[in-house]
Amino acid sequence: MKDNKNYGFMTKALHAGWERDPATGSSGLPIYATSAYQFKDSAQAASLFKLEEEGYIYSRLANPTVKAFEDGLNALEGGCGAIALSSGQAALAHLVAALCSSGSNLVVSRKVYGGTVTLLQNVFSRFGIETKFVDSDHPCQVEEAIDDDTRGVITETIGNPMMNVAPLEALARAAHRRGVPLIIDNTFATPALCRPIEWGADAVVYSTTKYVSGNGNLIGGAIVDGGGFDWRAYPEKFPGLALPDPSYHDIVFAERYGRSALAAKLHCSVLRDMGGCPSAFDAYLLHLSLSTLALRMARHSENGLAVAKFLEKHPQVEWVRYPGLESHPQNDMAKVYLKDGCGGMMAFGVKGGIEAGRKLVDSLSLIGHMANLGQTRTLIIHPASTTHSQLTSGQRAEAGLSDGLLRLSVGLEDAADIITDLEKGLDAAGK
Ligand SMILES: Cc1ncc(COP(=O)(O)O)c(C=O)c1O
Repeated sequence: MKDNKNYGFMTKALHAGWERDPATGSSGLPIYATSAYQFKDSAQAASLFKLEEEGYIYSRLANPTVKAFEDGLNALEGGCGAIALSSGQAALAHLVAALCSSGSNLVVSRKVYGGTVTLLQNVFSRFGIETKFVDSDHPCQVEEAIDDDTRGVITETIGNPMMNVAPLEALARAAHRRGVPLIIDNTFATPALCRPIEWGADAVVYSTTKYVSGNGNLIGGAIVDGGGFDWRAYPEKFPGLALPDPSYHDIVFAERYGRSALAAKLHCSVLRDMGGCPSAFDAYLLHLSLSTLALRMARHSENGLAVAKFLEKHPQVEWVRYPGLESHPQNDMAKVYLKDGCGGMMAFGVKGGIEAGRKLVDSLSLIGHMANLGQTRTLIIHPASTTHSQLTSGQRAEAGLSDGLLRLSVGLEDAADIITDLEKGLDAAGK
C-alpha cells in the first residue's frame, strides 16, 4: 500500500501489509509454510547474511506472511517498523534483551499484568537486570526512580486489571528528560483506540493474543518501534543500538537503519538469537483480524460502557472501574487518550468478597470463565486466584488489587444478553 500515511485507519487496516502475491496475483495472503528460502546463488546468500540486500533467509528471522502482519500493525500504529513474536511475554522478553544488560534496571508500573511482574522479577533479576516498581499514575515517581542505569520505563495504556489510564504525555516527558525510552503495553486499547507513539511513546508492545487477534484462536505478541528515540545520544546506555555490533559485522544499527534502528536490531539480532518468532499460520490469522479491529473495538467500547453503567447501579456491586465512567478517577485522561472509546475491559467488586465472587462466576451461563480477555465473546476471571496469584498478597495490595475483584472482558454479543447473565450471577452472589 503506497501513501499509507495519508489513509484513514479503516483503509490502512484493509490494505496495509499486503497487496497481492507477486508470483500468482493472489489477493489473499498466502501462508508461507516454509522454514527456509532458496538462494539465487552464493553471492546473493552472502549479501543477504551481510544485510546488504533485503530478502528471506530463514523463517526464524523473517517470513513473508509474518511480514504482512507486521507491516499492517505498524501502519495502524504509525510506527517505524514492527516485529511479531510468539506471545506477549516473548515480546517483552525480546525488548528487554534489546535494551538491557547486567547492571541495568527498568522502571515499571506496579499495576501491570501479573506475568510482566513475574518475568521481570523472577527471570531478568537473575541476569542482573533489576526492576523498580513505581506508581506510574504519578510521573514524578517515575522520574525520581530513573537513574543512570535505567534503560526504559514500562507501563500499560489501561492497566490490567486496575483499569488505570496512563498519563502518556507526562510519562514520555519524564522518561525523555532522563534519557530513557517510554515503552507502552497497549494490549487493552489497541491502535484502534489509542496510538501511544502519537503521545510520545518510543516503543509499543502487545499481547496480540487479545484484541488484535480477537477470536481467542492463537497466542501472539508484537513490538512496534516508535522511531522517535535518539539512541545515538546515549551510546553508553544503548551500545547494542548506538555502537558497532560485533555480533553483526560491526553494524551500528542506529546509523544503518536510522529511525527504524530498534525494529532492525530486534529483527536482525535479538530474534535471530532468542528465536521467539510466530508461525506463519498465526500471522495469517492476525493479519485477517486487523481488517475488523476498528469495528470490533467500537462495539467492545459501546457494550463496555453499557455494562459498566449497569454494574455501577446494581446494589450487589461495591465499585466499578471502567475508564469511560464519570466515576473513574482518570476519566478526564480517558477523554483525551481514549476519545474513540475505552474498550471492553473493566474491573468490579461484589459485596460479600471472594465467596460472593465465586458464586457469581459459577452461576453465569453465557459469560465464559477463562484466563483470557479481548475476545469476541464475553469472559470473566478472578485475578487474585488466577492471573495475579503468583504475586504476594502485599504486591497485590500495593497494586490496589483486592481479593474480591473480578475482571470482565465484555464481548460483542447483544449488550442486553450480557447484562441478563450478569444479573443472574449477581442475584446468586447476594444469596
Ligand atoms: C496487558 C498484557 N500484556 C502482556 C500479556 C502477556 O501476553 P501473552 O499471554 O500473549 O504472552 C498479557 C496477558 O494476559 C496482558 O494482559
